[in-house]
Amino acid sequence: MAENRNETGRLAPPRHIAIIMDGNGRWATRRGLPRTAGHKAGAETFRNIATYCKNIGVKYLTVYAFSTENWKRSETEVSAIMALLKKYLLEAVDTMERDHIRLHFFGDMTPIAPELRVLARETDEITEHLSKDDFQANVCLNYGGRDEILRAARRFAEDCAAGKRRPEELDEAAFSGYLDSAGIPDPELMIRPSGEQRLSNFLLWQCAYSEFYYTDVLWPDFDEAELDKAIAAYHARDRRFGGVKK
Ligand code: IPE
Ligand code: IPE
Ligand code: MG
Repeated sequence: MAENRNETGRLAPPRHIAIIMDGNGRWATRRGLPRTAGHKAGAETFRNIATYCKNIGVKYLTVYAFSTENWKRSETEVSAIMALLKKYLLEAVDTMERDHIRLHFFGDMTPIAPELRVLARETDEITEHLSKDDFQANVCLNYGGRDEILRAARRFAEDCAAGKRRPEELDEAAFSGYLDSAGIPDPELMIRPSGEQRLSNFLLWQCAYSEFYYTDVLWPDFDEAELDKAIAAYHARDRRFGGVKK
């Protein structure tokens, strides 16, 4: 079992939870609403779940907000998602210091609109001033697991070419240090709502030994009780990491 009790004898939640925030479009379509209404509702769910994670003592929450493949969607949908991100970032700039929420981005920010990048840089600066012990939300934006690995490999190769590194120095720990998730432990629990049972290019390197939890609930309907269910399922898992239970 993934038993891990805290000082009060209660089962400690996973230190790092990753969520593929999926099902916004279907949620809206079922209500006869435009898909963008689903993204709006999904952004609200993210706010609630992040607050809940912080309150129950989760240290890192990594969410998939926009993949390297999501650019295939209509211009209307992509700009609605970007506008929601901007709104969220503007709020975050005002509240993260007060609420002790560190915010970090995973993904290639190069094709992201300059105004969003400026806001992301601002939240990074605020995060720098917050304590390393504070709750941290990682938002994956224009993120793809393969793209992250390629960018890391490229940077390592550049360091080798510049004489700062030697190829034989590369091991798992050194390579992890080149990823967007550098310094952050791997997620113990990976949640995907909406009934899909695939990774869709999320955290390919980091979830080598994550426990996967799937639910048919659509992301805008995902609430605290659903997260409790996922954590309870995680606690019932037998994590062996390739070994044999004594
Ligand atoms: C997840 O919800 C949000 C993004 C991918 C940006 P979807 O928009 O994929 O919702 P469904 O899967 O179409 O219901
Ligand atoms: C994954 O969901 C990306 C995000 C939730 C941001 P998608 O809806 O894009 O994935 P597929 O297309 O169902 O695999
Ligand atoms: Mg989807």
